[in-house]
Amino acid sequence: MDQLDQLVAEAGADFAAAADGAALESAKARYFGKGGSLTELLKGLGKLDPEARKTVGAEINKAKAAIEALLTARRDALQQAALEAQLAAEALDVTLPGRGAGIGGLHPVVRTLERVEQLFRSIGFDVAEGPEIETDFYNFTALNTPANHPARSMHDTFYLENGDGVMLRTHTSPVQIRAMQAHVEAYKDRETMPELRVIAPGRVYRVDSDATHSPMFHQIEGVWIGESVSFADLKGVVADFLRSFFESDDLQVRFRPSFFPFTEPSAEIDVAFMSGALKGRWLEIAGCGMMHPNVLRFGGIDPERYTGFAFGMGPDRLTMLRYGVNDLRLFFEGDLRFLGQFR
Ligand code: DAH
Repeated sequence: MDQLDQLVAEAGADFAAAADGAALESAKARYFGKGGSLTELLKGLGKLDPEARKTVGAEINKAKAAIEALLTARRDALQQAALEAQLAAEALDVTLPGRGAGIGGLHPVVRTLERVEQLFRSIGFDVAEGPEIETDFYNFTALNTPANHPARSMHDTFYLENGDGVMLRTHTSPVQIRAMQAHVEAYKDRETMPELRVIAPGRVYRVDSDATHSPMFHQIEGVWIGESVSFADLKGVVADFLRSFFESDDLQVRFRPSFFPFTEPSAEIDVAFMSGALKGRWLEIAGCGMMHPNVLRFGGIDPERYTGFAFGMGPDRLTMLRYGVNDLRLFFEGDLRFLGQFR
């Protein structure tokens, strides 16, 4: 029957024109739905006599099966196309270079602090910490620097508003006092107090900013108190430490007389390298001295019985020397191009 062949051809064209699943379903309804062309044809069968109904019915069923096959084929084709489009959209180019694991590293100054701690621990020092927000008493007074002492003007710092003399500490020296007080408290029931050997690394603050000064920088305080601690011990400990730190036996170390209110006598420690870019230049890296009796007393220790030495080093300076960095500010700008070199 021409009419049926035409219907099949028409359905095929209709389905092919459907661009997606929804369009295909509405095309399907035009043939199989209520009032659809095939449905109507099948309804018409009832009007035929039984003989004709049989042959025409068979023809219509054949056409129906053909249209169903076309529908299924188109449905499969559309699904396949959708899948391919999705795969193409989600494609990964496995040949692109990777982003890397982004491994972090320790800050160069932290490396120095850890190295210094390790070296001092190896000769029996503990590591202590103190608060960065400090009182006038610990930062100055207990360090033999009373109000109006001229040494205070070299330590201009950041005072807290309405803080009643509370400030960002200008040096790690206040930890000397705190460590002595804690030590005395810990051994108050003993007849003899064991030696106090402690270093205190940490951040300190001053109103200072140029290539070699930052408003925040680091210091490492050191204290050794006992019954017969002398300046010779100070020289030995510091010189030994510096040679280990820089891994050099022919590093020159010099103690130059100086003044600090909290030590007497006082000295500044300079180092000179025998080779390299800085060869022969003396560089100041620490202050030190024998602890002033008043400071021992503020810490609760009897200066008639005990003596001690103290030093305060600049680990930022040590780091610059060790790695050949010439601008201190690089350490604190957070530039990964710089910091990434120390991983
Ligand atoms: N606190 C001093 C400063 O910041 C450094 C210093 C000098 C610390 C001598 C000491 C010392 O312990 O004995 O300039």
